[in-house]
Amino acid sequence: MDNMNDELTEKVLKLKKERNAVILAHNYQLGEVQDIADFVGDSLELSQKAAKTDAEVIVFCGVHFMAETASILYPDKVVLLPDIHAGCPMADMITAARLKERKRELPTSTVVCYINSPAEVKAESDVCCTSANAVKVIESLDNEEVLFVPDQYLGHYISTKTDKRITFWPGYCPTHARIQPQYITGLRQEYPQARVVVHPECRPEVTALADEVLSTGGMCQYAKREDVNQMIVGTEIGIIHRLRKENPGKKFIPASEQAVCPRMKLITLESVLWSLQEMSPQVRVPEEIRLKAKAAVDTMLKVV
Ligand code: 13P
Ligand code: SF4
Repeated sequence: MDNMNDELTEKVLKLKKERNAVILAHNYQLGEVQDIADFVGDSLELSQKAAKTDAEVIVFCGVHFMAETASILYPDKVVLLPDIHAGCPMADMITAARLKERKRELPTSTVVCYINSPAEVKAESDVCCTSANAVKVIESLDNEEVLFVPDQYLGHYISTKTDKRITFWPGYCPTHARIQPQYITGLRQEYPQARVVVHPECRPEVTALADEVLSTGGMCQYAKREDVNQMIVGTEIGIIHRLRKENPGKKFIPASEQAVCPRMKLITLESVLWSLQEMSPQVRVPEEIRLKAKAAVDTMLKVV
């Protein structure tokens, strides 16, 4: 680490203590941000951490829906998102108004919403899920008919694992959509010993080629297995930092160097420091929406 980062890190850690704050970071965050976090994880792990922390302030280094989820669970805590422009483009592919319309067309379906969605959409849903628990959540439902929003590719992946009849929403992740099946086949030839592990947000043609389809947290656990020495990683490339740090000596090959989520990268050491100094930007969900959204998140947390 250079002197500049050392200095910033020192300031962040000092202020974090003074503010009684905890820093949570998603696996896609810049390495410099992951390295100062109290906890690094996937969406499910981060929401579980948020639900348990004693800190008064949560600095959420991730994207907007993740900070919102923390605020939905704990409205009395101050939730900081160090850059307010860090939104998830997939979450922006659905609105509560459009979901309400769709629900009128499909009145007998249970609405399952991926956690990558705005609080208003969660409020209109019966239950949430993350990439780590999606199949389990859908299998836990009594209803055979499901409207799954907003990720059509995750929805498609779930449909290969369950007999439920799933109607998809046409959303997708632009970052994962960049990973093409020919990248996987090319890398398999180059690294015949490597396991191919991809995120369920990838295109069906890509998940069909993988040895394992896992959440980012699942990928981190899988990488630690003794029989895994080389891994072709089909997800956002920020995770490579953590994989290499936790598994020195093992080889991690990104499926595509272009799989970068630009919004995740808006958060830097500087923006973390500024947000702790200013106690801003804060993410808060209006109470009426929060209570309804919380019911969907709580139902999910009871399943896992
Ligand atoms: P995970 O829950 O697997 O970390 O995924 C979150 C996400 O935004 C993937 O693009
Ligand atoms: Fe959203 Fe995709 Fe970025 Fe994840 S990687 S936060 S789904 S845009």
